[in-house]
Amino acid sequence: MVKICCIGAGYVGGPTMAVIAHKCPKIEVVVVDISVPRITAWNSDQLPIYEPGLDDVVKQCRGRNLFFSTDVEKHVAEADIIFVSVNTPTKTRGLGAGKAADLTYWESAARMIADVSKSDKIVVEKSTVPVKTAEAIEKILTHNSKGINYQILSNPEFLAEGTAIDDLFAPDRVLIGGRETPGGQKAIQALKSVYAHWVPEDRIITTNLWSAELSKLAANAFLAQRISSVNAMSALCEATGADVAEVSHAVGMDTRIGHKFLNASVGFGGSCFQKDILNLVYICECNGLPEVANYWKQVIKINDYQKTRFVNRVVSSMFNTVSGKKIAVLGFAFKKDTGDTRETPAIDVCKGLLGDNARLSIYDPQVNEDQMQRDLTMNKFDWDHPIHLQPMSPTSVKQVTMVWDAYEATKDAHGICVLTEWDEFKTLDYQRIFDNMQKPAFVFDGRNIVDSEKLRNIGFIVYSIGKPLDPWLKDMPAVA
Ligand code: NAI
Repeated sequence: MVKICCIGAGYVGGPTMAVIAHKCPKIEVVVVDISVPRITAWNSDQLPIYEPGLDDVVKQCRGRNLFFSTDVEKHVAEADIIFVSVNTPTKTRGLGAGKAADLTYWESAARMIADVSKSDKIVVEKSTVPVKTAEAIEKILTHNSKGINYQILSNPEFLAEGTAIDDLFAPDRVLIGGRETPGGQKAIQALKSVYAHWVPEDRIITTNLWSAELSKLAANAFLAQRISSVNAMSALCEATGADVAEVSHAVGMDTRIGHKFLNASVGFGGSCFQKDILNLVYICECNGLPEVANYWKQVIKINDYQKTRFVNRVVSSMFNTVSGKKIAVLGFAFKKDTGDTRETPAIDVCKGLLGDNARLSIYDPQVNEDQMQRDLTMNKFDWDHPIHLQPMSPTSVKQVTMVWDAYEATKDAHGICVLTEWDEFKTLDYQRIFDNMQKPAFVFDGRNIVDSEKLRNIGFIVYSIGKPLDPWLKDMPAVA
């Protein structure tokens, strides 16, 4: 029986391994992690991450051919194929601080593999890593090899949170990069035969190692660039009276462009886009390509601009101050159908409003108060470390309360900011909400999901991103 071990039981390691175990009943899959609470949660009824469909998949295989364990060394030693899906945060100090990927966790995983292995291994990069990381890993392993043969493969993960299980069941493509040697090709075939249990052969593409590593960074940069492109247009739409939804629709009908990923919003978030682009920028700079680096940097700058622009709209609409005013924040996760808050635009928007002394009442169906407080008090980039190693601020943000109900959040509020596109926010009883708010009552829709005409008829002043401005907002000072 082939044995797979995955180091790192996070948003990627957990779901990907659960799907491999589900689709390959004859393969034993063990997911290991240094975080005891994470593994305990994977072995309980309350999984550590929320992802539609994940519970079912885990329940069907856990204890059969899917196991979660903190006994990292034992399972690594026994495995034939080792996936490494550990954190790859942005460096916060030293060379490349603020841009380069911090490979501390990856390197320690590689050294541990070298220490405990007694048989040949295929080591698979599942984490997103800088180009040429495989070479560094190869060096660590071969310099400590004790005669063991290691093959390194790059198999970046393209799942999107919120649809991870569907994405894993029917991926657009599976990418496997490896050495062009006979040993490298054999390893590629071994991994390919795992995916071939359910992925059609023409969707499994194989490349050299560097192409696979770079393709992941490139794919995320292209995706984020689309969002920044449409968000840049949204600012121009507001200035000219065009409607960004109409512009996106017209542009997206060109089959070369396509409709997907063209919704204007308060900005992109999630653990990957910003981190991966910063990483790409750093690699370009290191390779003497400042023009290319600056091109991609702009994608992040527009994203930051969009969040600042949103906060400025809120403050300027409300008589240029939100000091002491209650603002309801609907949605904190970086997108719907996930509880993940890493790099969520809600953090910057909330910090911006708190900077103007607002009182915030936040509701998100999947995010708890502890997580929100951590996010609002943590330093930039500190979130991307194993949870027990994250530095915690001793103080909490006092002007923030978290509630478990949208009606409670909006009661007596002066304004509402919709920051996540949860479906339930589309069907709230906005008349009831209006009746219980201070007047004038404002809605700032950072995801363009509310029916703005209906809300205007109720009496709200509404701001939707990239849409023709409400007369009230037109008279307010310009933004940023
Ligand atoms: P995560 O933070 O949810 O999980 C990483 C896990 O690795 C943590 O539970 C941590 O305790 C564990 N870990 C760290 N060092 C370890 C070690 N030496 N031994 C054992 N366990 C260790 O991170 P996530 O989101 O799963 O991301 C993992 C990698 O996958 C990152 O490189 C990320 O950029 C990439 N990625 C993430 C995607 C996402 O949607 N979250 C999608 C595609 C790639």
